[in-house]
Amino acid sequence: MRHLLEPTNLTIEEIDQIMEQALDIIAHREKYADACKGKKLATLFYEPSTRTRLSFTAAMMELGGNVLGFSDANSSSVSKGETIADTIRVVSCFADIVAMRHPKEGAPLIAKRFSGIPVINAGDGGHNHPTQTLTDMLTIRRELGHFDHLTIGLCGDLKYGRTVHSLIKAMSRYEGNRFVLISPRELKLPSYMIDEMKTSGIPYVEYDSIEKAMPELDVLYMTRVQQERFSDKAEYERLKLAFILDEEKMKYGKENMIVLHPLPRVGEITEGVDNDPRAAYFRQVENGKFVRMSLIYTLLKWRSEEDNIKERQLMKDTEGKKCDNPHCITTKEPLAQEFYIDTKGIKRCNYCDHEI
Ligand code: NCD
Repeated sequence: MRHLLEPTNLTIEEIDQIMEQALDIIAHREKYADACKGKKLATLFYEPSTRTRLSFTAAMMELGGNVLGFSDANSSSVSKGETIADTIRVVSCFADIVAMRHPKEGAPLIAKRFSGIPVINAGDGGHNHPTQTLTDMLTIRRELGHFDHLTIGLCGDLKYGRTVHSLIKAMSRYEGNRFVLISPRELKLPSYMIDEMKTSGIPYVEYDSIEKAMPELDVLYMTRVQQERFSDKAEYERLKLAFILDEEKMKYGKENMIVLHPLPRVGEITEGVDNDPRAAYFRQVENGKFVRMSLIYTLLKWRSEEDNIKERQLMKDTEGKKCDNPHCITTKEPLAQEFYIDTKGIKRCNYCDHEI
């Protein structure tokens, strides 16, 4: 079963397929109106969210499916001390697919291990946020037309910014991309990311100002300093507005560059920038819904293809077989499930327990 915990869980070809399908959804909305009819998405949000949860909900509704879940862990059994492993086992009985956000890094991996349905990571602590990355990529695709040979500036909280980590992981797989990192010293990329970039030979430079980076950039990805991940509130206050993008700085940018932001913004982009045609962050929000529609539909489709393959294999294995117990149902009805069960070396009919 396929899950999406980080962007590299999908191959480049699969990402292309999801992008193409998202574009098709945009062009032919009506075609997908019943694509997930009868299916249920569970949204398990252990951490606050507006955009992501609503975007998942709207996406499933536009596919004709239903949504259940919680947006506040305190209103679920989590507040009684239930583990993720148990919650996901229970949710697997009620839903067909789950989108989960959790403040702890790696939480979706636990969920995946115990889940009977596909798990989508909707953000785990300061670690990953792959559906935001798909959103960012669909925006790049629609605005710039390609994923290669781009200079991508990432500005703000590169340490705790999960959207930044996932975007670098995804975009560094394409040829000719180069990254410009702009952050306070205290909020640089985590060392595991830097090490990975160094060993894989991914080109990057670090700049100490937006103005300096601006003329080189095709994409400027602004981020909020992640207040909720700071243990020292005074440090947050000191760093929160270290880098601000305003109209003046936009003057240094190329004519066809774009500004992205996963939102919410809390002062790092001034409102004056919103009217600049290169400000793509509100268009980006809408792309989030379309790409999540494409993702949910694809994961559910893969799941049912997998079930069909299993079912066909089972049919093949049991073809023409019947139990020699004349009272067994298999002498009358075709087999739909495994014929034998093997208990301590003794083969028995799965239907009547008769020894074969
Ligand atoms: C981002 C997140 O939750 O990581 N927001 C989002 O998903 N739209 C970025 C942020 O909260 O700063």
